[in-house]
Amino acid sequence: MTGMNPWLGRLLLLLALITIDHASLPLAITLVIGAGGAAIAIFLYKGSYLPRFVMDILDRLSNKTSLEEAYEKRSQNLITIDAEDLAERVRAKVIGQDEAIKAIAQQLRRRIAAKRLDKPVAVFCLAGAPGVGKTHFAKILSEELYGARSHLHFFDMSQFGQPHAAASLFGQARGYVGSNSYGALTAALRDVPNAVVLLDEFEKAHPEVHKRFLTAWNDGFITEVSDGARVSTNEAIFVLTTNAASRRIAEIAEQTNESAEEIGRLAKAALADAQFAPEVLSRIDDVFAFRPLKGLDIARVVALEIEGIAQQFNLKIAGGGIDPQILMQAIDALSGRMQGGVRDMTRAIERQITDGLIEARGAGAAEIRLIQDGDKVSVESVRGSREQPVLNVQRAMARQ
Ligand SMILES: Nc1ncnc2c1ncn2[C@@H]1O[C@H](COP(=O)(O)OP(=O)(O)O)[C@@H](O)[C@H]1O
Ligand SMILES: [Mg+2]
Repeated sequence: MTGMNPWLGRLLLLLALITIDHASLPLAITLVIGAGGAAIAIFLYKGSYLPRFVMDILDRLSNKTSLEEAYEKRSQNLITIDAEDLAERVRAKVIGQDEAIKAIAQQLRRRIAAKRLDKPVAVFCLAGAPGVGKTHFAKILSEELYGARSHLHFFDMSQFGQPHAAASLFGQARGYVGSNSYGALTAALRDVPNAVVLLDEFEKAHPEVHKRFLTAWNDGFITEVSDGARVSTNEAIFVLTTNAASRRIAEIAEQTNESAEEIGRLAKAALADAQFAPEVLSRIDDVFAFRPLKGLDIARVVALEIEGIAQQFNLKIAGGGIDPQILMQAIDALSGRMQGGVRDMTRAIERQITDGLIEARGAGAAEIRLIQDGDKVSVESVRGSREQPVLNVQRAMARQ
């Protein structure tokens, strides 16, 4: 209806003018009715209420609105971003890393605004202990920036520990076995150039592989070896993660009185001390320190993980449905630990509840509650779906 409001104003103005001028009343009424009719016609057209002959082909044969949305996202070139809004959206999904998230969002905003044509948008490094949300953050960032998971190119760099491994990323000279296919990185960036390229645990790749990336960042393009095609990297955001120097990084991340710039500088120095390849470090725009998860943040992450596991079985957690004792145990188990962390904890809980979830699902449950039962966790159905009888599934699994 918003389209009508200016028209309404104009009509009243017209009416007032004519009345003031003492012109004929019938003329005034005719004009008003005419203009009103036009306004209604415009409204009906915009709202797609008109018959087919004046409707857009896409409205008639497809869903124009969602096509427009998808098209916009696809051709979306990041021109500016609202750093605060981005940080807020990421913070809702990445727990306990507020300082790093804020610093990354601000830095990203600057990099996007000062777009370098011959370089990637940014080359960031996220440092910190395992299981504190570095990889998770990069995934969420791509979703929040581009609105789709297809804008994330994920590479587990520990798989490229051999010098010849670069071929699977950048392609292989013709004549070799299997050389007719593109490298995974070149293919990904050719298809979706505006993306987050996540190079997970970067330090684990072979120095030969590192070297190829240095060229990619320096030149703003990569060359597909098999056919020599140039693939631009200047719309990509490279995010490296590393567990190197995680103790020192944790200390640095705790220094809340330091500025984000100073923390980044200290983190970079810590990586340098830990023998992180200096030629790589010098090409990285910024290093961000992730802190170890603590206290209730551990509980938040584990609760989110449990919700995720339940969702895989199409089950919802009832409001307040996770027994605080389960989360309390997670806090106790994880506090102060540097290794394994959330991942091990989640796996342990998953093992305990999977059978219970399967049974609850089988019994037609829609919502469940998890209860700590001695040293076991039991799954209880709260509400059934599709009017199936609600069975109380009490499956207690031995705690591993
Ligand atoms: N800060 C966090 N916020 C939300 N989830 C987290 C966080 N840290 C870890 N997780 C969860 O634990 C899992 C492992 O974390 P991950 O991001 O892979 O750790 P890292 O890359 O730092 O080693 C993730 O899949 C995520 O679901
Ligand atoms: Mg990781």
